[in-house]
Amino acid sequence: SHSQADETQLAEPHLGAVLASAGLDAEYVRAEGNTLYQRAEDGREIPVLDYAGGYGSLMWGHNHPTIVAYAKELLDAGVPVHSQFSLHPEAAELALALSRIVRRESGYDEPYFAVFANTGAEANEAAVKHAEMDRVIRLGALLAAVDDGLTEAREAVRDGSAIIPDEVFARVGMGSRVSDTAALNELVHHITTHNAAQAGRPPVFLTPEGSFHGKLVSTVQLTHNEGYRNPFKALAAQARFVPLGQPGALRKIADEERAQLLGLEVVDGLVRLTEHEAPVVCAFVLEPIQGEGGIREMPREFVEEIHEVCAELGAPVIVDEIQSGMGRTGDFLAGTRLGLRGDYYTLAKSLGGGLAKISVLMVRSSRYQGQFELIHSSTFAKDGFSNRIALKVLELLEADDGAAYRRAAELGDRLLAMLGSVRDDYPDVVKDVRGRGLLLGLEFHDQSGAPAAPVAEAARAGLFGYLVAGHLLRGHRLRTFPTASAPDTLRFEPSLLLSDDEISWLETALRDTCDIIRGGYQRPLALP
Ligand code: F0G
Repeated sequence: SHSQADETQLAEPHLGAVLASAGLDAEYVRAEGNTLYQRAEDGREIPVLDYAGGYGSLMWGHNHPTIVAYAKELLDAGVPVHSQFSLHPEAAELALALSRIVRRESGYDEPYFAVFANTGAEANEAAVKHAEMDRVIRLGALLAAVDDGLTEAREAVRDGSAIIPDEVFARVGMGSRVSDTAALNELVHHITTHNAAQAGRPPVFLTPEGSFHGKLVSTVQLTHNEGYRNPFKALAAQARFVPLGQPGALRKIADEERAQLLGLEVVDGLVRLTEHEAPVVCAFVLEPIQGEGGIREMPREFVEEIHEVCAELGAPVIVDEIQSGMGRTGDFLAGTRLGLRGDYYTLAKSLGGGLAKISVLMVRSSRYQGQFELIHSSTFAKDGFSNRIALKVLELLEADDGAAYRRAAELGDRLLAMLGSVRDDYPDVVKDVRGRGLLLGLEFHDQSGAPAAPVAEAARAGLFGYLVAGHLLRGHRLRTFPTASAPDTLRFEPSLLLSDDEISWLETALRDTCDIIRGGYQRPLALP
């Protein structure tokens, strides 16, 4: 029990144990570019090539000299870091810069409003809150409109200028009635009772299977991994997970979640029943290329289905570009190439340049609820240090007409070609290579049947990828990981500083690993 945990293990004792068991309990003393340094017994620095890349937060590598120099400049200049509830011209400049870029990439020719936060999950929590505020406002407006219709019909029947035909009574299960006030009141009661039940339904979110949107209370409901999500399901609005690669599945689920409100209108002296789509589906949330879910790009036809269904539902499309954005895939947003049009976007990770913690929710102006920012804030959001670092990051990305994006695409193609050559030479070991730009994944075939018992056991426990990660670290001084949701897939998210040597370093390490696997682990993986 924890009482025995010794005092040096008070931060996440179990994580320490897991890392040690896979031999991943490395300690780093310095970092630059794509390299982390361990310190050997004799004090020498041991370089470790980092392909985990902060899980996507290091587009500019560790401690990029330009960003570090700028951070020093800011600190030496004593810029106000915490000056909440005052004018922040640099935050306005950042919001404008982000709006211009997102407007260019999104396909909607309108500005986007920015709501700043600190972490990726927090930006997604803000997105969920904004979408819910929007849903409640739309639902309220609809209920008011329906109420007006009921009042109009009631007055028309009372003053004899309209009657209620039998089929209206039949439609609400009242059977045949005389169109008098008593029947009218009963009809209105039926309608208002039905509407109250529909309007009272909790909001539902739609998101693809394999999604990862964070681990906070609302966002963990949108994260598909049951291990992360199940203990907390009672805490917040639930999501329906839409299977990928099944055209029509989204429409089927949306239809199951739809709700109609009933109303009355008077046409040519006759009272008629009306039906109105009630906004129960709060939003559709997706990553254009899933990161934690194992580097899976959304199919184009799925994107079209999302646009269609969300337009019918009036639900905003929330595009989570926290891992795929910031130029990593060769465009500022990964969704651009898919024709994905977001009503909201969330960004984080590399927006902080590897030094600051900053995230942002961008909402297109025609969907933006202005009063949101008056009731949603956070002490550290929009701080004077992170804003300026983020502005510098955008400057670096957009410089020379987007040279950085072209570099990410070019390096990504080279890396993907190398991974593809490994897959082609070891089709019995490597199942798939996926991704775009500097967001790539390599999936191994299932090793549950491996001739080496410990490997087979690890594979059955969903730990095979961690075993390989341990081998890569100890055997090749190379750092990368699978994710809990995709345990057989290694992710590669290096920075823009990636060199050919670093690509061939990875190639050597992967080919060695494939030889060991193909050889039935006669030569064992480098174990702790
Ligand atoms: N959304 C996406 C698409 C992410 O990949 C992550 C984090 C988050 C939100 C949450 O951001 O950690 O700053 O709160 N992804 C990491 C991963 C954890 O392993 O892919 P956060």
